[in-house]
Amino acid sequence: MRTNIDKIRIVKVEEVIDESPTVRTLIFKDDLCTSAKPGQFTMVWMPGRDEIPMSIMISEKNDRVGLTIRKHGISSTALYNTGVGNLLGIRGPYGNSFDIVKGNVLLVGGGTGMVPILRLSKELGRKNSKKNNITLIIGAKTKDEVIFENIIKQILKNVKSEVIVTTEDGSHGFKGLATEAAAKSIEKNDFNMVYTCGPERMMQKILELASSYGIPSQASLERIMKCGIGICCSCCLGKYLICKDGPVMKGDVILKLPEFGTYIREKSGRIVDIW
Ligand SMILES: Cc1cc2nc3c(=O)[nH]c(=O)nc-3n(C[C@H](O)[C@H](O)[C@H](O)COP(=O)(O)OP(=O)(O)OC[C@H]3O[C@@H](n4cnc5c(N)ncnc54)[C@H](O)[C@@H]3O)c2cc1C
Ligand code: FES
Repeated sequence: MRTNIDKIRIVKVEEVIDESPTVRTLIFKDDLCTSAKPGQFTMVWMPGRDEIPMSIMISEKNDRVGLTIRKHGISSTALYNTGVGNLLGIRGPYGNSFDIVKGNVLLVGGGTGMVPILRLSKELGRKNSKKNNITLIIGAKTKDEVIFENIIKQILKNVKSEVIVTTEDGSHGFKGLATEAAAKSIEKNDFNMVYTCGPERMMQKILELASSYGIPSQASLERIMKCGIGICCSCCLGKYLICKDGPVMKGDVILKLPEFGTYIREKSGRIVDIW
């Protein structure tokens, strides 16, 4: 019998990990999310508050899973402030996932966009790992905001790989934008796939770079989501629904959409410039 992923499951937060001054990971047990594919998301309900989409974070413990939240508006701040012992409702996992490609690949993650990149790295590190050569760029504004550097090095320790950290103020690693480090990497390597997740303008630049070198690419996108299952259309991007057709989409498809990198729709449907 197919498990009903649409039925809300109540989970208890077992551990809270501070990743940076504004980012936290909540760890809990949920078998369906533990086996999620890289890129998939869950809808997280906070009783009396809201329900929002969140990428599914890996955990050091094999039978546990997490959510990594950046404190932003009302709902994400409420989730960020959820403590050990609190209950959450979750549905999913939903959406498609990154296509796993063998060979010489570049991964670029910014902010909490690193969450699906971590799950993807774990998969790439496992599958045909001897044939893979992974370059992974972590972008952040400052040293304080660099997340998952140690975890990622641990995941990739048995794979041919290079981890590059970039900070805009130069307080850690390469001084500059993740896109600048990516441009240098693409110039000197022969990548056969580029994966990215993070701020939309960063992803736009990465996809354009990949396209200019004829390299296929995939990005995990975000839009406002209400139902998460293709009913409400609040997550539309051109003719696509990010909850059903995404969140992972191919670079050549995304780059043809005029609203990508330009504007989003708020919860009311009103169009606003991208942040
Ligand atoms: C598939 C998917 C995976 C996600 N994974 C994570 C994750 O792992 N960690 C994390 O911290 N956040 C993640 N998000 C974003 C998260 O769901 C919230 O949208 C975000 O935290 C802001 O919510 P808020 O209620 O705090 O802000 P709000 O008060 O609702 O909004 C603040 C501002 O942000 C804009 N905004 C809100 N949500 C989005 C959105 N989804 N896309 C573009 N603009 C938006 C609003 O229009 C407004 O201008 C994900 C979103 C999607 C669609
Ligand atoms: S969130 Fe409702 S259709 Fe995508």
